This record gives sequence, structure tokens and C-alpha cells, in this order.
Amino acid sequence: MTAKIISGNKIAEEMRAEMKKEIEELKAKHSIVPGLAVVLVGENPASVVYVRNKKKSCEEIGINSFEHKLAADASEDKLLAVVDKLNSDDAVHGILVQLPLPKQIDENKVLNRIIPTKDVDGFHPFNVGRMLVGDPIFLPCTPHGVQQMLVRSGVKIAGSHVVIIGRSNIVGKPVAAILIQKAKNADATVTICHSRTKNLPEVTQLGDILVAAIGVPEFVKANMVREGSVVIDVGVNRVEDKSNPKGFRLVGDVAFDEVKEKASAITPVPGGVGPMTITMLLHNTIRAAKLKHNIA
Ligand code: GUN
Repeated sequence: MTAKIISGNKIAEEMRAEMKKEIEELKAKHSIVPGLAVVLVGENPASVVYVRNKKKSCEEIGINSFEHKLAADASEDKLLAVVDKLNSDDAVHGILVQLPLPKQIDENKVLNRIIPTKDVDGFHPFNVGRMLVGDPIFLPCTPHGVQQMLVRSGVKIAGSHVVIIGRSNIVGKPVAAILIQKAKNADATVTICHSRTKNLPEVTQLGDILVAAIGVPEFVKANMVREGSVVIDVGVNRVEDKSNPKGFRLVGDVAFDEVKEKASAITPVPGGVGPMTITMLLHNTIRAAKLKHNIA
């Protein structure tokens, strides 16, 4: 079997076209322009690219974007002061502090400072709790994007066994929390695997849907995947490539060429989950603006 390619680019484009209309309506009927503030500390090359893409994506669909750049050696207090200012800025509906943060800054302390109603990343413990009890305000972007890709490409989630490799707070745990809910587009049986899992290939082979979020280039090989399963690759890894003008290329956590011969559907890297993450961020920003103005 050669897998169907699930194109995140295509699904993201569809969703962004829908959101663009929604924003035009918000402007026309309510005079509201959703606004997203993105805070970048330092110059981590991947983060710089992400932040640039977020800004461009906002502009394309009519969201105001505000960028705040701090030096790599900025103090925690300085960053907290920026967050406080954004918390009380009426033009800012969503706040995103790009991770990872430099060592001198306590990441949790910063994420906890963002007012939950502007927490478009869905990382604040308040929002994590709301997600877990099945009454979310904002779902975290990458996990929500994974769910949307499955739904919009017609993959049955209810009753399926979803095996997730990786237990991070950003991807592994929230993907599980979302897909395990007794709810529409969920109702899966969920297994989370990690670095201490015994007989990993035996466990991953159980997945009707396999989600790879480990951060190790091409970790998932064909022997770990069941014939006919759906494989979602959340990994974005830079590997050295001298033939590439940039000196690197992007690969996922899945050995794409061999796994695509066994799966029934698979997401590529790039062009898979990546564009969905920003799409769901735009979705959350619109939601934050509507919440503030009590629009259903
Ligand atoms: N760094 C990598 N992914 C993310 C994300 O989804 N949100 C934030 N804030 N930082 C990230």
C-alpha cells in the first residue's frame, strides 16, 4: 500500500479562507479587528522563522499582529512586565510567548502570568484544566491542528486506538487529552508511549492512528507501524544537508519513505502538521476577540 498524503498546506488554506471571511464579518458588523501579540526573547533560528510566519499569516487573513522582541539576556522581570502590559492592552486579544525561553527565565512563571482569556497557546494551567475536563476555552494549537487534520481528511477517530509517541506538555499530553474526550471528533482509545516504554514497536503497532512527537529525526521506522494505519508526524527537525543552500533540511520524526509504503495515510514534513499549528493559533485569536466582546 502507498499512503494517501494528508496535506496540512491544503487543509490550512481551506481553514484560513473560512477565517478570513469570519474576520471581514467581525469588522463589518462589530468593528472588531482581532489582535495577536507575539513575544520573542533572543534569536533562536527556528523561533525567528516561526515568529515571522505567524506575523505573515495574521496579516494575510486580517488579524493585527504586534511583535515584541527582547534581547537573549533579558531578565525574567522585564519579560513579565511586557506580559503585564499586553494583558491590559485592549487591542491585544491573544498573547503568545515563543518557546523555548533562555535559561535565566522560568518558563512556567511566564506562561502562568498570561491572563487565561488571552492565552491563545492554551498553555496556562487554567486552560489545561478546562481542556482536561472537556470544557475548553482554547485548545493548544498543534494538538488541535492534529485533530482537525484527522477530521478534515475523513479519518475515523471514535473507537480508534490512537498511539502517541512523546509526552510533552505541548504535544503528547494534550493530543491524548483532546482525543480521549467523550465528545465529537474524539472518543478514541489512547496510549502514550515515551522513552521508558518497554517493547516500543509492539505498542506502536497497535495504533490505528500513530502520532509521532518525540523530536528525534526519522525515529519511527516501518517496523513500528501497522499496515494500513494513519501516521501523523509532528516532528520538525533540522538535519545537516550540505547540498541545501541553507545547510540543512527539515525532516519529521517519521522515516517517511519507508513508512508511506505501509500506512494508509501519512502527513509529510514540511507541509503537514506545521501549517496547521499557525492556523489553529489564528482560530484561537479570533475566538479570544469574540469572547472579549461576547460574540457567540
Ligand atoms: N515553540 C514551539 N512550538 C510552540 C508553540 O506552539 N507555542 C509557543 N509559544 N512556542 C512554541
